[in-house]
Amino acid sequence: MSPCPSVSLFLIFFLTSLQAASADGGNTNIIDETCKKCTQEDPNISYRFCVASLESNPDSHHTDLGGLGLISIKLLRHNMTHTRSYTKKLLKSKKMDPFIKACLQDCLELYSDAVSTLKEAIRAYKDEKYDDTKINLSSVIDASTTCEDGFAEKDMASPLAVRNKDAFQLSALALSIVTMYSRSSY
Ligand SMILES: *[C@@H]1O[C@H](CO)[C@@H](O)[C@H](O)[C@H]1NC(C)=O
Ligand SMILES: *[C@@H]1O[C@H](CO)[C@@H](O)[C@H](O)[C@H]1NC(C)=O
Ligand SMILES: *[C@@H]1O[C@H](CO)[C@@H](O)[C@H](O)[C@H]1NC(C)=O
Repeated sequence: MSPCPSVSLFLIFFLTSLQAASADGGNTNIIDETCKKCTQEDPNISYRFCVASLESNPDSHHTDLGGLGLISIKLLRHNMTHTRSYTKKLLKSKKMDPFIKACLQDCLELYSDAVSTLKEAIRAYKDEKYDDTKINLSSVIDASTTCEDGFAEKDMASPLAVRNKDAFQLSALALSIVTMYSRSSY
């Protein structure tokens, strides 16, 4: 007549382990899941790059898809801000091929525009204006490719190649996550 103690003990044990499982594995899963989807939708994004980038921000471990969208835009802004400073530093060196110098100056302008565009993208995203966010992110993707195209015109090695590749993938990633999130929130 009394409730079976082993059943309730079992239940307590079961519920506790469920909770532990979601606390531990729950958000590794959202990074993994999101990166798999992004890679499927855009072959320009590598799975490893996606996971490594998102995991570089500790907040990624306890957020949802909407949160990952904001994190990815902020990662990109941070990245581009650094690349802009690095380009400024390169431009200070005395002896430099005038063609390379002109390219670097163009890139610097592109990055400066991209950083301010990303500020608008973040504001639009927080206001839930996802179409505006996507337009802004698309123009940022173009910044890294346009910068690289400058050097390619004369077959010159770009001193910014690695950074542009990172920025290209990060912006494709941010656009992909925002697109996915905007679809899910209608
Ligand atoms: C991948 O990158 C190329 C080069 O920028 C672009 O033309 C293409 O549209 C991208 N693919 C997707 C699925 O976005
Ligand atoms: C830019 O992003 C890439 C990929 O996440 C990362 O490897 C690199 O360290 C970042 N650079 C800066 C300066 O944040
Ligand atoms: C961001 O997108 C909005 C909406 O299309 C646009 O009005 C705005 O000019 C864009 N900002 C930049 C800096 O491109």
